[in-house]
Amino acid sequence: MNIIDIIKAQHREYRALMDQVRDAPADDLEERKRLLDLTRSKLHAHGRAEEHVVFPRMEEDARTRPAALEAWEWHRASNALMRGLLQLAPADELWMPKWLVIRGTIMAHLDAEEARALVSLAEAFGPEELEELGRKFLAVEEDILSRKVEG
Ligand SMILES: [Fe+2]
Ligand SMILES: [Fe+2]
Repeated sequence: MNIIDIIKAQHREYRALMDQVRDAPADDLEERKRLLDLTRSKLHAHGRAEEHVVFPRMEEDARTRPAALEAWEWHRASNALMRGLLQLAPADELWMPKWLVIRGTIMAHLDAEEARALVSLAEAFGPEELEELGRKFLAVEEDILSRKVEG
């Protein structure tokens, strides 16, 4: 599978997961936390795999570099917001307002990544390199998930 199809498929899954966190019943804080932990660990592995495998390669090519630099900024902003959320207990009245802003930020990033990073990748790199990036991405992601690295 090439890197573009892999990333798009995972983005679809994360959009649905982020909606599930938003829609978790307000009186079921265990479920809220479970869904957040699941969403966070998947987003973390995906983001780190992009940072290890995809963005460095994109930075080397003038056609893909601007979209990679933009994506790094979205990742930094999302991570900073997520750290703020983790300071709060799920019962805190600010928990959901913060989550809604994180969700909106990550949604905007996924859209921007598809519109600019993935489109420029498809234009700049050939099918073999896109397949190779896909293989490396999945390997790094699996490694991160199996180590349960926190982010
Ligand atoms: Fe992504
Ligand atoms: Fe990303």
